[in-house]
Amino acid sequence: MAKLGFPFTLGVASGEPSADGVILWTRLAVEPLHGSKPGGMPNQMFSVKWELAEDAEFTRVIQSGTAPAQPDWAHSVHVRVSGLRAWTEYFYRFSVDGHTSPVGRTKTAPGPDSTEPIKVAVVSCQRYEHGFFTVLKHVAEERPDVVFHLGDYVYEYGKPANPQPGRYIRPLEATEECKTLAAYRRRYARYQLDKDLQAAHAAAPWITMPDDHEVRDNYAGLLPGDGSSQSAFLKRRNAAYKAYYEHLPLRVRPVGNNLQFYRWRPYGKVADFLFVDARQYRKGKDMLGAEQQEWLTARLRASTARWKVIAQALFFAPRKFPLEPPSTDAWDGFPDSRANVLAAATGDLVVLSGDVHNAWAGEFGGGVEFVTSSVTSRPPVTDGTAMLALNPHLKFFDGRRGYLVVTAGMSDFTVDYRAVAFVDQPGAPVVTAAGFRVVDSKLQRTDL
Ligand SMILES: [Fe+2]
Repeated sequence: MAKLGFPFTLGVASGEPSADGVILWTRLAVEPLHGSKPGGMPNQMFSVKWELAEDAEFTRVIQSGTAPAQPDWAHSVHVRVSGLRAWTEYFYRFSVDGHTSPVGRTKTAPGPDSTEPIKVAVVSCQRYEHGFFTVLKHVAEERPDVVFHLGDYVYEYGKPANPQPGRYIRPLEATEECKTLAAYRRRYARYQLDKDLQAAHAAAPWITMPDDHEVRDNYAGLLPGDGSSQSAFLKRRNAAYKAYYEHLPLRVRPVGNNLQFYRWRPYGKVADFLFVDARQYRKGKDMLGAEQQEWLTARLRASTARWKVIAQALFFAPRKFPLEPPSTDAWDGFPDSRANVLAAATGDLVVLSGDVHNAWAGEFGGGVEFVTSSVTSRPPVTDGTAMLALNPHLKFFDGRRGYLVVTAGMSDFTVDYRAVAFVDQPGAPVVTAAGFRVVDSKLQRTDL
C-alpha cells in the first residue's frame, strides 16, 4: 500500500466530558474536498493510534490504544476514554502511517461533590460564506473548561449563481444545497479546514446541539418545509445526522432514524446542563416530543444543582416585534411546551440559546435567558432599541458577532458578552460588550 498523505487535515477534537472520561475525535482525510471518495481516502479501514497525556509534551502518557477509522463512517475516529481523574486537564493526539496529528487539550467534568466554579464559552451560527471565524480564535484563547455549540455548525446552502458583492466573504465550492451524505461530508470538511475552528476544538472539549441548518432551514420534525415527501426528507435527515456524528466528538451514534442529542451533563454541585433538542421531535404545537419532555421535566424536578441550565438553540423568552407577528420557529410558537418546562423548574433556571444572530439577555419569570450572537452568520435587520422598549423583560441587545463567557459557581452565575467589530476580514480584536449576574432569577449588570 502506498504511504498515505497527511491525513489529519481537519484537526482534532474532544467532547462530552464526564467526571471520569471524554470522547476524542479526529477524521482521516488526505484530500478533504475530494469529489467522489470521502476525504480522498482509500476504501479500507485504518487502525489509528491515540495517546492521552498529563502534559502537552507527552512525557507523561497515561493511556493509549488504537481505534478503527472505517470507510463507512468517513474514516472518523471516536475514542471513548474512561478511568480519568475528575476536573483534570489532559492532552491527546493521534497517529497513523507515520503521521502525527496536532495536539488537543481537554478537561474532564468535576465530580458529583465539586463546588469548583466552571467557565463555559457559548457559540452558535457559523456560516462559512459570511466571514472569518475570528470569534472561535478568541474562544480558543479563553481556554474555557468546556465549549457549548448551540446549533448551525454548518449551513446547507450552495453558492448562489450571482453572490452579492460584500455579502459573500468566503466562497464555497458547492453550488448545490447539501442533500446527500457525500455533500454534507464535504461541507463539514470545508468548515473544518478552517484554522480558527480547529483551534477552538483543540482548546477545550465541546458539547454540541444542532439546530436546523445542519439539515435544512426551518425544518420541523419530519416536515422539511420545502414540499418534498416525508420519506425523501427522512433519508436526507439521516444523511445529515450521520455526517454530524462523523464530524463531532459525540458519545452516541445515529440509530435507525434517530440520533439522540438531548442529554444531561452534570458539573458537580454547581450546574446541571440539560441539552435540549428543539427540532427533531417537533409535531404540531409540541416542540419536544413526549419522551424528551418527560425526560426534561423529570430532570428539572430532580436537580439539586445550584443552577439548572437548559442549553438549546431557540429564543425562549416571549418577544413582541414592532411590525411582524411573534416568531413561530422559536418557543413563542410552542407556548404549551414552554409552560411545561417552566412548571417543572423550581427556580434558578437559566436558558442559553442562539439562532437569532444577535446577542440578547432577558428575564422570563422564573429564570433568565442569555442569547449568544453568531460566530459569522449575518443578522436580520433589527431595531434593538425599539425591541427593548417593546419588551421590558429584555434587558440587553448587541448587534455584533460574538460569544458568551459563562462563569458559574455556588454563589454567582455571571455572563460576559464578548463581541468583535467585523468578520469580513481576519484579525478583529475582542471586546466585552456587557456583563451580567443572576440574582433571584433576575439580571443585574456587572459592568456599569
Ligand atoms: Fe443560524
